[in-house]
This record gives sequence, C-alpha cells and structure tokens, in this order.
Amino acid sequence: MTTPVPGEAPRVVLGVAGGIAAYKACELLRRLRESGHDVTVVPTAAALEFVGAPTWSALSGKPVSAQVWDAVHEVPHVRIGQGADLVVVAPATADLLAKAAHGLADDLLTNTLLTARCPVVLAPAMHTEMWEHPATVANVATLRSRGVLVVEPAVGRLTGADSGKGRLPEPEALAALCQDVLDRGASAGVHDLGGRHVVVSAGGTREYLDPVRFLGNRSSGRQGHALARAALARGARVTLVAANVALPAPAGADVVAVETTAQLREAVLAAAADADAVVMSAAPADFRPAQVSEAKIKKDEDGSAPSIALVQNPDILRELVTTRGAGDTVVVGFAAETGDARGSVLDHARAKLARKGCDLLVVNDVSGGAVFGSTENEAVLLDADGGQRPVPRGSKESLAHAIWDAVVPRLA
Ligand code: CTP
Repeated sequence: MTTPVPGEAPRVVLGVAGGIAAYKACELLRRLRESGHDVTVVPTAAALEFVGAPTWSALSGKPVSAQVWDAVHEVPHVRIGQGADLVVVAPATADLLAKAAHGLADDLLTNTLLTARCPVVLAPAMHTEMWEHPATVANVATLRSRGVLVVEPAVGRLTGADSGKGRLPEPEALAALCQDVLDRGASAGVHDLGGRHVVVSAGGTREYLDPVRFLGNRSSGRQGHALARAALARGARVTLVAANVALPAPAGADVVAVETTAQLREAVLAAAADADAVVMSAAPADFRPAQVSEAKIKKDEDGSAPSIALVQNPDILRELVTTRGAGDTVVVGFAAETGDARGSVLDHARAKLARKGCDLLVVNDVSGGAVFGSTENEAVLLDADGGQRPVPRGSKESLAHAIWDAVVPRLA
C-alpha cells in the first residue's frame, strides 16, 4: 500500500461485479468524483453486460478495463491495488464474494483485491436465497475475519417481482460509508466492533394529541446516524431505531422506523435482547397526552382553549439498565443539560448518571440550543467509574468515534 499524501485526492478503486445493481454504481461513482476522489473503475466482464465501458470511462475520466491484458507494460493487475487508498466493490455478487474469499484471481478486479493493502469494502447485492446460502454465509464470514468490511444488504425490492434482503444500499449511503472508512485513516482496518451487535436510537419522538397534531422535539437524529455509521465502519452489526429522522438510512444498518416513545421502547428493548451495546441518543418525550383523540380536536365556539393532561412516559434507558440480566450489555445514555442555580451542567449530569445507572453518559451543554440540527457537537463523556473525558468541538462523526472508543474496552 502506498501512503496517502495529505491534500491529494484519495484514490478509490470502484469494483463493479455483474449484477443488475451495477447501474447504481454509476451514481456512486458520480458522488465519489463530486466529493473529490480519484476513482478507477474496475468492472468484471459480467458487469460490462449491464453497464458498458464508455459509461464508466466517461464518469471516471479514465480508461476502463476488465481484464489483465490491457496496458500490460503498466502492470495494472498489481499497480491498481497497490496504489489504492480504498477498494469498494458495489455490487459484489455471490460469485465475486466466493472468489475474494478463496483468493481466486482470474480478472483485473480479483487481482486488484489480492494486491490491495488498503481498506476493502464489499457491498453485496443478490437474491435473498443466494445471500442466505451456506456457501455465501461462509464466504462472508471468511472475508470479515480478514478485516474486509462486508456491508449488510438492504431489504426491499429485488430484480423482477421479488422482494427481500439483498438490495444494494443506496449510492448516497455507500458514498458516505466510503468517506467514513477513508476518514478513519490508519484505524480504518481496525474492526474493533467486528462480530458485535450494537443498537443505536436516534431522533425525537412524537406524542399524538389527535390524528394530525403531536408534541415533539427538535432532535434531528444526526448524532444517532453518525453513531450508526461509525459502528458500521468499525465492523458492527447495527440496529438503528430511528424516531422521525429525515436522513438516508446508513448503508448496512437494520433500520426500524418509529414515531412514539412507546414504539421506540418496544423496538429498542427487542433489539437489545442480543445486543453488546445500546446507545440511547434519541430524545424520547418524557410526557405524552393522557388521551389521544381519535378525531381531530375542534375549536370551541366560545373561543376557549382545551387543557392537555399529560402522563409520564416510561424511561427506556433506565429499563435497559434494569433488564440487562447478567449485566453484559454496555448501556450509554445522553444528557442534554443546562446549568442553573442548583448546579453546573456536570453536577446535573453526574446526578443523572447515578439515577439512570448506565455505564457511560454523553453530556451536551445545550444552553442556547446550539446543538440541534447542527453538524457539529462537543461533549463530556462521564463513566460510571468516575472517569470524565472532554471531547472538543468537532463533527458528530468524531464524537461518535470517541463514544465507541469508550464503549469498546467495556465490551465483555
Ligand atoms: N431517555 C429514555 N427514555 C425517556 C427519556 C429519556 O430512555 N423516556 C433517555 C435519552 O435517550 C437519553 C437519556 O435518557 O439517553 C437522558 O435523557 P433526558 O431527557 O436528559 O433525561 P431525563 O430522565 O428526562 O432527565 P430530566 O430529569 O433531566 O428530564
């Protein structure tokens, strides 16, 4: 592997295997190019049946070949892999996974996979039966054990009338994953969450008054999404329980969309049953209307306003702590705090950590509302053993990695 030069465009090899989702790789290529990457496309011969070389060449601005016999004097079967900062194969077919797992090298892409020493991301797309076949399952396990990031396919419409697990995640999400992996630099090959199942809640719940009105809050879900994406880049299986989040699903995450705190509770507790870690970054409403009107609430003729009686919602974080049995699930809470006459932000946060009983508490000072919807965040990580670590202002992605850095040593 060559060392990436700071300031130079990251060199990405986009491998494309022969599946119908090859058309989506055109959009991935565009996105990678638009965000400043130097992309070399290496399709398989079968991929060229779906999308022709002129398309790849025009979009990448480079010649394209599928086999090792073109420009032999440049030794492309070795040079392309050696010079890459990232190799991503999208779509990766069952055949490509099998070849990669067994080290076969009968075309330019499989040669490239053998010579690359940079992070490798494979984004499989195939019919559910092929994905679930024991041969594919074993190949994926082999590749993951070698540090390859194999993205979980999405669930949805497949070729023809079928639907199920096997779709290529959306190009936007794959481009974001590539960036996440590149951003990790030297740590990119470290999959310290490999083989782990983590649950992340994100967004803000809505508590309905009637079919059209609700009480809500300003949480955008960005921090939760950053946590999910960071965990995926570190090799975890991720369940993202998303409450009213208008962001694209992270590539490879199992996303459960919810609206209310009751739904969030049900989804989080179900996913937590076999989880190694749960991070509650969602903002569940503490209260909900005591009654939800089936019909839209009408204005009174006399101009009087209705009073809304509220009842308290269950505390999901607390429940995660009390139901975790042997205590081997790491539970992380968030606290959006403001200081007041009774104590500082950290005084309130310490008290909350004790009250909730979780292992880590991520404390945001929200005086002034600066955090909501922003792409940046700063926090203090408090741990149950008394430790405290400030995370300076930075991207929500860097805070996400700091949180996983604190979680990893606690995993059983
Ligand atoms: N939380 C939860 N269930 C709720 C409310 C909050 O699991 N019904 C979680 C949040 O996801 C967050 C943490 O609890 O991880 C802290 O939320 P916060 O609203 O600050 O805590 P509260 O218990 O509501 O504390 P306060 O008394 O300050 O309102």
